[in-house]
Parts: sequence; structure tokens; C-alpha cells
Amino acid sequence: MIPLTLAQIAEITGGQLHGDPGAVVTGEVVIDSRRAGPGGLFAAVSGERADGHDFASAAVAAGAVAVLATRPVPVSSVLVTDVPAALAALARFVIDALPAAAIAGITGSSGKTTTKDLAAQLVERLGPTIAPAGSFNNEFGHPLTVLRADAATRYLVLELSARGPGHIAYLCRVAPPRYGVVLNVGHAHAGEFGGLDQVARAKGELVEALPADGAAIVNADDPRVLAMAARTAARVVTFGVDDRTALIRAAGVRLDDLGRPSFTLLTPEGQAGVTLRLHGAHSVPDAVAAAALARELGLDLAGIADGLCAAVARSRWRMEVRRRGDGVTVINDAYNANPESVRAALDALRHLAQDGRGFAILGHMAELGDTSRASHEDIGEFAAQAELAGLIAVGEEAAPILAGARRVRSWTGEALAVPDGTAALDALANQLKPGDVVLVKASRAAHLEGVAALLARGDDPPRPPREDMTREEADR
Ligand SMILES: Nc1ncnc2c1ncn2[C@@H]1O[C@H](COP(=O)(O)OP(=O)(O)OP(=O)(O)O)[C@@H](O)[C@H]1O
Ligand SMILES: [Mg+2]
Repeated sequence: MIPLTLAQIAEITGGQLHGDPGAVVTGEVVIDSRRAGPGGLFAAVSGERADGHDFASAAVAAGAVAVLATRPVPVSSVLVTDVPAALAALARFVIDALPAAAIAGITGSSGKTTTKDLAAQLVERLGPTIAPAGSFNNEFGHPLTVLRADAATRYLVLELSARGPGHIAYLCRVAPPRYGVVLNVGHAHAGEFGGLDQVARAKGELVEALPADGAAIVNADDPRVLAMAARTAARVVTFGVDDRTALIRAAGVRLDDLGRPSFTLLTPEGQAGVTLRLHGAHSVPDAVAAAALARELGLDLAGIADGLCAAVARSRWRMEVRRRGDGVTVINDAYNANPESVRAALDALRHLAQDGRGFAILGHMAELGDTSRASHEDIGEFAAQAELAGLIAVGEEAAPILAGARRVRSWTGEALAVPDGTAALDALANQLKPGDVVLVKASRAAHLEGVAALLARGDDPPRPPREDMTREEADR
């Protein structure tokens, strides 16, 4: 954060100051009062479960200099009419004050966080980099991330999400990117958009926001993304796995027994071998996109290849693979689910279970609109074709998965509908044997990550909790 006085904050946001105009905010801007700290600014937001204004005093007691609020609070404050708009104005002020910082935005239906985490680990090799924790990608998380930038920052690697038209254009006005990465156009939130073409329109707002001296980094394997080349003033850089004309490309992809990909990264400057620490073939396009972005920012091929080999999964519950003491392997991919990411996870499950039996515990995929039932049935069919030994659908909305699986006449696996995650665990108890692999996946709303964590632990002694889960992800 660049230091700002309360008088400046009031002026930038058009807010009303109640407090010492000379008091200086030097710390982080947060919307979670539990994260408020010395020198920071607490933005009070009214959510479904709680009203931030009730925590204004606690935030100041924890060291926050003041509160950004929409109604009077008993502590130093700047009163505004709209908190996200105020955060956006502050973020834009910070960006304008830091012309040396290069801004990159990443969007797509699946893999934004994975790509952002990989890209950040590459770009950090070039200089001080700000990237969001987890999926801080909306009208709150985006400006909060940008506000962490200061005079030392050279790069911002940002994740941009859209739940409707205009959302990405808005985020691009908050922090105008020079570099934009579009990963794919898929069914995530497609119900809210009204279809894939509408999703493509919205995701393409990123390339439309890029300047002529910028770079639009687009997936050559996805026709809807490649078509976005016509919507940008920026130079177009293509990446891909299948399309042999892509400028930055992965060739010879193969997976080890835990599904970790190795490939040859092909670039105009030469080629290099890469082995990822992530699991699943679907992480390859994400890695290639991250490589293309880092290359644009000036990282050389050796740095890119080294960086990709060293990069770890920074955000939780995406394809976390754990082999238990008893030889059972658990894939916790319970962060979220849409048709493309479930297919990707089932592909990985099939690969891991080559020498054993594969089981999938699947919850529903949210926000698919009219196509929801058919999409669930199709996933069931895909799972049955993957020759799983068992398919467990959790909750009523996931039940059509089983109807789809039964369409595959040759499938001999077991199909089971259960009401919740605990029942799924009970159903598997005593069934699993060494060599078996279990995938746990569902939309965020299903909260299957706890089930996956219990399953991954098995009878192994409990491990200390990991500290690397972001608060936002723990809360969502
Ligand atoms: N290229 C890809 N194609 C399909 N699925 C992918 C791809 N990359 C990642 N995934 C899967 O999609 C899920 C979400 O991954 P990730 O969190 O990186 O995506 P995201 O776009 O940030 O999602 P969100 O919109 O929830 O923020 C995970 O299950 C992950 O394994
Ligand atoms: Mg994300």
C-alpha cells in the first residue's frame, strides 16, 4: 500500500471524513475485520451472514487507522455511498501513482487461479510482484489486491472473474492491464450468462481493454478464445497444446503415476523440458499460458522452465493428490466444479487408477441454468466411460449424474446416491483397498472439501493444519 492520509482517502472516494485528516494509512486494506492490522484500513461490507459495520470498533482496536463505511460508526471513518466503488477509486489512484508497474490480467472459465499462481511464481523471478491470494477476483478482491502494490512493485498478476457482461471491463478500468491472458470459454456460470457465446463476449472484454503496445495472450486450442484476436488492438500471442501453430506450445505431454505432467515447452527462442508439480493434463495449458505471459514480461526460457518445474500449488483444494499410508490415493479437487473441470478431473482419476480401481464422489455443478440436468447426465456418462468402479452422487441435484452413467450399458461399476458427504464416506468405508483412487469434486456450495480431507487422512495420524489456505477460501 502506498501511504495515504485520511484526507486523501476522503478526496479520492468522494467520502465524508470523520477523524484526523492527517492520520496515515500505511497497512493493508481489508474487508475481513479479523485480518485488520496496524496502520490498515477496514472496509465495512454488509454480507449475507454479517454486517462489517458491527466490527468497526474491533478493527480499529486491532490497529486499523479508520473504517471505510456506508453508515456512521463510533470510530475514525470515511463515509461513502458505495464501498466497492470507493475501493475501486482507491485502487485506480494507486495504479496511476505507480506507472512503472506492469499489469497482467488472467481470465477464463477454468484455471484462472492455477494459471495466476504459476505465472506469479515465474514473474517473481523478474521483480517484486503482487498477485492475489486464492481467487480474489471480483469487485472486492480485485481492488484489495491492487491496493497491496507500492513503490517497489514491478508486476501485478491479477485474476479477473465475470458473472455477467461488463464485469471484466469494470475490473480493467480499476487496474488497466497491458497484458491479458484468456484461458478458455466453458460452462462455468454459463447459466447466468445465457450460453457459451455470451461467456465469450464477456471474457473478451479483457482483450478489448488492452492497449496497442500490450499483448493479448490467447489459447489457440479454444476457437472462441482464438476468435478474440479480432477484438483487440494489442499484439496477439497464441499458446496451446494441440494447435501446432501456437507461438508458445507444449509438446509430448505425458503423466507420471501421480498424474504430474512432463512436456517440452516450445518457444521462438528454443525449447526446454518441464515437469510440473501439479496434477492432471489440464494443468498443461495453464502452465503454457503462464509461460507465455512471463516471456512477454521478459523472463528467459531457462527461467521459465526452471520456474515451472519449481512452482507449487499455492491455492488449496485444486487437484490435491495424497497417497495414504494404506496405499489408497485421494484426489481432493473439491474447490469448485463445472463440466470442463469435472471431465479434466475424471481424466486424471482414470490415469491415476490405471493399476487399481477408481471411485468418484461427485456433488452437483452449480449455476449451469437450463442445461444443468443434461450436463450432469453427460458427466455421468463420461464417468462410466472412464470405467470407474464406483460413482457416488452427493445430494439431490447431483442425482442425474447416475442416470447418465446408466446410459453406458457396458459399465459394470456401482452407482450410489447419498444425501451428504458423510454418507459418501460411510459408503466407501471398508471397501477401499491398496491401489484404489478416490476423487472428490463438487461446486463450492456443496462443501465437500471437509469430506475429502477426512478421506485423505484415512487412518493416518492427524497432521497439523496447513496454514496456506487463504481466509477467503476457508470462509467461502
Ligand atoms: N485448463 C483447465 N481446463 C479444465 N479444468 C481446469 C483447467 N485448469 C484448472 N482446472 C480445474 O478447474 C478447477 C478450478 O481451478 P482454478 O481454481 O484454477 O480455476 P478458476 O478459474 O480460478 O476458478 P474460479 O472461477 O472458481 O475462481 C479445478 O478443479 C482445476 O483442477
Ligand atoms: Mg479462481
